[in-house]
Amino acid sequence: MIPIFEPEFTAKEREYLLECIDTGWISSQGRFITDFEQAYARHTGMPHGIATSNCTTALHLALLGLGIGAGDEVICPDLTFIAPANMIAMTGATPVLVDVEPIGWGIDPQCLEARITPRTKAVIVVHAFGHAANMGPIMAIARRHGLKVIEDVAEAPDAQWIDPTDGSRQRVGTFGDASCYSFFANKIMTCGEGGMILCHDADLAENLRILRDHGMSRQQRYVHDVIGTNYRMTNMQAAVALAQLERLDDTQARRLIQCETYRRQLSGCAKLSFRPVAAWCAPVHWLTTITLRRAELRTPLSDYLRRNGVEPRPMIFPVHEAKPYRHGNDPNDFPVSRSISHRSLHLPSAIGLSAEDIARICDLVIDWVERNDA
Ligand SMILES: Cc1ncc(COP(=O)(O)O)c(C=O)c1O
Repeated sequence: MIPIFEPEFTAKEREYLLECIDTGWISSQGRFITDFEQAYARHTGMPHGIATSNCTTALHLALLGLGIGAGDEVICPDLTFIAPANMIAMTGATPVLVDVEPIGWGIDPQCLEARITPRTKAVIVVHAFGHAANMGPIMAIARRHGLKVIEDVAEAPDAQWIDPTDGSRQRVGTFGDASCYSFFANKIMTCGEGGMILCHDADLAENLRILRDHGMSRQQRYVHDVIGTNYRMTNMQAAVALAQLERLDDTQARRLIQCETYRRQLSGCAKLSFRPVAAWCAPVHWLTTITLRRAELRTPLSDYLRRNGVEPRPMIFPVHEAKPYRHGNDPNDFPVSRSISHRSLHLPSAIGLSAEDIARICDLVIDWVERNDA
């Protein structure tokens, strides 16, 4: 079976991990944590990095650090992995879901502005499936309404937003008050489970470090000034993450070649579309996504691929369809999110996928679609 995703490790991860075991620094102290935090912040061009146990805890921490809580509303896109909505709800605030754009699949700026109320305190912008959200208009709206901005960069680290007025580029994760990253096994770089918050503000960074560590004073151990939690990353996770970060540029370049290979081979099939890229985005390649003309085709195509040794993954469901979010959300408010979600399928995207594997997958897909999409 060609798996949907597979991590790739080198001798470097092994070497760093062994250093943790040999020195006994296996929990949340040790050189790799600070090395990784500083190196990741430097890589992205941000002053502060706070490593966390995963991206979900990073999102929760970022919301808490920005003072979000009961009585507040926080806007997030409907087409996303559910963590942003869940973490808003976990703070006691209300997640307000909005539709996404047909190109780029990020939060739709017009829908975002339409849902702002006096209670709206923040927006979580998700850079989805390797693609930047449209940060120019989004940041203008956020500034106009005094909203905090958290960027969820789990699926698109290093993607760039291109300013249409002058062509200048800016990396996603550097626009908002805080940005959150995932290093889960199916992400562009991984340490099994892991996350990161990057931010501009030194006071916020300090606050996040305190909240990450049981609300403990940074000056006096076991003195707790605020209520906090344990969302720390371990030295072992950071060791693996640092090794992955050291070759991230190379990984991204290899992944883009994979994306181009898929795109070239599938472009001849008019009955399916490849994920569209907006003119204002330099994307990265996370998961290959194809979109069929009709939702009913997705399950039979998936079954066919699985029978032939290829593991597909249906796209995530829109958040408003999940049980906790059905009440109070009208499905008609999310036509783009529903249409993309129900018709789309991800294809294997492990970095080690060979050109022969990709050719075989594309042949299977095209053959089935040509025969079954009448
Ligand atoms: C957009 C987005 N946000 C958050 C997460 C959660 O990341 P983690 O598994 O590191 O908690 C994911 C995971 O797939 C994601 O895709």
